[in-house]
Amino acid sequence: MKLEVFANAAEVASRAADILEGRIKTKPDIVLGLPTGSTPVGMYRELQRRCSAGQLSFEQVRTFNLDEYYPVSPDNECSYRYFMDTNLFCGIDIKRENTHVPAGNAPDIYEECLRYDAAIEQAGGIDLQVLGVGRNGHIGFNEPDSRLASGTHLTGLTEDTVQANARFFSSADEVPRQAVTMGLGGIMKARSILLLCTGKEKHRALHKLLEGEISTDWPVTMLNMHPDVTVLCDRDAYEKLYLGIDVGGMSIKYGVVNQSGMIYRFEETTDRSSAEQLLEQMTNTCRRITKQYTIAAVGISMPGRIALDGTVNRQSNLPFKGVDVRGYIEREVGVPTTLENDANAAAWGEYMASGEKGDMLMLTLGTGIGSGIVINGRIYRGSHGHAGEFGHMITHSGGRECGCGQRGCFEKYASVAVLIDSAQQAAAENPDSILAGYMGDKANGRSFFEAVAQGCPVAEKVLDTYITELKTGIESIKSIFDPKLVVIGGGISEQKDIFFARLSEACRGVDLRQAVLGNDAGMIGAADLAMRRCSDG
Ligand code: GLP
Repeated sequence: MKLEVFANAAEVASRAADILEGRIKTKPDIVLGLPTGSTPVGMYRELQRRCSAGQLSFEQVRTFNLDEYYPVSPDNECSYRYFMDTNLFCGIDIKRENTHVPAGNAPDIYEECLRYDAAIEQAGGIDLQVLGVGRNGHIGFNEPDSRLASGTHLTGLTEDTVQANARFFSSADEVPRQAVTMGLGGIMKARSILLLCTGKEKHRALHKLLEGEISTDWPVTMLNMHPDVTVLCDRDAYEKLYLGIDVGGMSIKYGVVNQSGMIYRFEETTDRSSAEQLLEQMTNTCRRITKQYTIAAVGISMPGRIALDGTVNRQSNLPFKGVDVRGYIEREVGVPTTLENDANAAAWGEYMASGEKGDMLMLTLGTGIGSGIVINGRIYRGSHGHAGEFGHMITHSGGRECGCGQRGCFEKYASVAVLIDSAQQAAAENPDSILAGYMGDKANGRSFFEAVAQGCPVAEKVLDTYITELKTGIESIKSIFDPKLVVIGGGISEQKDIFFARLSEACRGVDLRQAVLGNDAGMIGAADLAMRRCSDG
């Protein structure tokens, strides 16, 4: 099998037209097998263009279409005969009597099937069969089944195909449930086959074929038994896909990505009732996704201390302490899986998004302070996998007590939770201030910044103290690592003028950047790490 991968569907169409043009010029009375669907439309347009330009003639060409709905009359706008007339035949110099489509309104449809096969035979058989493929792997209308028919036959359509083809009708109810199609035996008799496969929807079908499997569940895989097949596909259909999962205390985010970006995203509420429940939830969703997409590797991002061997040593928001999450998902989903601390994964995602090559640190300001370090193009984990805990760097010796057992940790002075506490305290001490009006029970970072925006001096003072605390930490980090850039993540970093610009001003000499991936950083970073580890072998 020959495989050619192109950047997009337009390039596939033009290459397919080149192949057809070459074949027609070599054998002007060639017998072509033709498909319908949206995939070949670009190629048909290109052939019409070349024909109008006098570059190509279909005068002697004979065509046989793969299939037709049943029952349907040829002049029905949804029939494949009408499709071929309007998408190809009307714009080329082919003789109408040389074009063949099964008659979907034949009085005896079984008779029609036999007649159609005989007509192909009489024409000398098909020289070049062009094919598209359904997302469930059907070719023509040969649907996945335990048995596949050989000759042209009447067949039922699967619900998946009805839904996929509904776009050509006013509703799914209008799609005929039956069709006449050339059988696999007929298709395989063609002397050569050209398969066109474009779009992410076709990824799984294409990869089933490329994996070399032969199964009636994926009719397209039968082409693995044909001696002369050329596959033209675009990157969306071809490129390897990776699944990034970011498991948070509130929600789990899943993203399917390829080299060009995210092609599918899904989010669900985290079931934290037990490790078993949560693993089952993740496994079920992963299985659903891997049914739709062929995933080369999975990357999981999760809070907690994750040792170099993947053991979850410490975790507060999820029930995974001591659980082998990576091994479980890898076993149950059957795809190589990696696991990374969420702050590291987010740092990696932002590092990749920044396009910078130099060393980078990321601080995520939230309930605590998450952080990640990228040195020499790799996440720096330290000797036990626990490096980059800047939130627990001591900035106030003997200071406030921290949940980690130490005193005076950076996050006890510079997290957003602390900022809100300080604002609430200042509001209580200054009940007549503008700030007091904003810091009710449900107040959050945004309420605080609204008070700052109103010019409240009390809020200003709280913000000044907060920025000084952050500056202390960031400058210490800079002295140790001398990074190229420091990325600030968390909702607060979106307060551009009122917060981020002031922090940058305070930390002159440090290239501070706002995070750009928002809440998806961990998921995207995890998927990218999976991609890298997969290609590193
Ligand atoms: C229909 C046709 C197939 C075609 C498939 C894919 O079901 N019977 O021959 O390959 O659709 O269509 P599309 O190219 O629109 O994805």
